[in-house]
Amino acid sequence: MTLETVSREPTSTIDWSQPIGFKYRHPRSHIKYIWTKETGWDKGELVRGNHTVTMDIAATALHYGQTCFEGMKAFRMKDGKIRIFRPELNAQRIQESCKAASMEAPPLPVFLDALRRVVEDNLDFVPPQGSNGSMYIRPFVFGSGPQLGLSPAPEFTFIILVNPVGPYYAGGMGSPVKALIAHSLDRAAPHGTGNTKLGGNYAPVFASTSVASAKGFTVNLFLDAATNTHIEEFATSNFAGCKRGADGKTIYVTPRSGSILKGVTNRSCAELASRHLGWNVERREISWDEVKDFDEVVATGTAVVMTPIGEIHREIKRPGKKVKVSADTGATTGAYDWDKDAEEEVGAEVDVQIVK
Ligand code: COI
Repeated sequence: MTLETVSREPTSTIDWSQPIGFKYRHPRSHIKYIWTKETGWDKGELVRGNHTVTMDIAATALHYGQTCFEGMKAFRMKDGKIRIFRPELNAQRIQESCKAASMEAPPLPVFLDALRRVVEDNLDFVPPQGSNGSMYIRPFVFGSGPQLGLSPAPEFTFIILVNPVGPYYAGGMGSPVKALIAHSLDRAAPHGTGNTKLGGNYAPVFASTSVASAKGFTVNLFLDAATNTHIEEFATSNFAGCKRGADGKTIYVTPRSGSILKGVTNRSCAELASRHLGWNVERREISWDEVKDFDEVVATGTAVVMTPIGEIHREIKRPGKKVKVSADTGATTGAYDWDKDAEEEVGAEVDVQIVK
């Protein structure tokens, strides 16, 4: 999607010569739409100078995580135009996420109109051409109406916030990062919602990311929850690798799985590799054992762009022996103690395998 021909210059309130990182800076405005059964989606309002929302304390987003989001980017191009990268694909994906959480989704025309209006109102927050920055666009939908029982909200809010960003990982695309496969958390269940951008898929990753970070890793990589043998995706992004095939051609290999996100960046890289570089593309199961055969591995995503992965470490947890913590908590012999009547795993060990 291309916006106006002559765009406003970047604002001087931000020093574009310095790294701007990936932090929220409260630009001029966001756009907000409300849906109710009676009204459908309203016409949307550009909200300037106020970066908060007010909602009922029984809103389903707050209790049941009825919320999803998207991520895309607008770029200031050499010809002075501002272009948004493949927004129709994000519009489609937000519809899938909304469906997974029984939410009303903004129809495509509403989504695209919202994008145009909010980016145009914040054109001076699109980083300068050549600065290595872009405008991150974060659409999100959430249940904003009250509902105490386990069913969808009577009102939904759709907001798009925009924000100038630099690289998600400090070194950007030029600095390989280290990834850790830890086994304390499964990101997504086989028939769960890991293929959507529901908020609940992301908060559980905060803890494992901070543990990984304390050990010197930048990102967690997850295996499939059922067998722990196949690569799924990174906490922030998709996994892709390349290697040489038997015919001498390079192959772009990326996982096929029902529990990973359908990344727009990953899809675009695969399409470019196939159509412009003449590479083969394979979207299939990738076993952990195959990872060592890749010439390169990258994390692909809107925020992380294409981040090279320099090393992947895998923790191998050997199951410990199960022991009964207490054997005499039967209700007949005294007060039942729920906490004592438990099994505890002892003797678990953690090994590390490294793939460079
Ligand atoms: C994006 O790339 O837009 C994402 O949603 C990833 C998020 C963890 C920042």
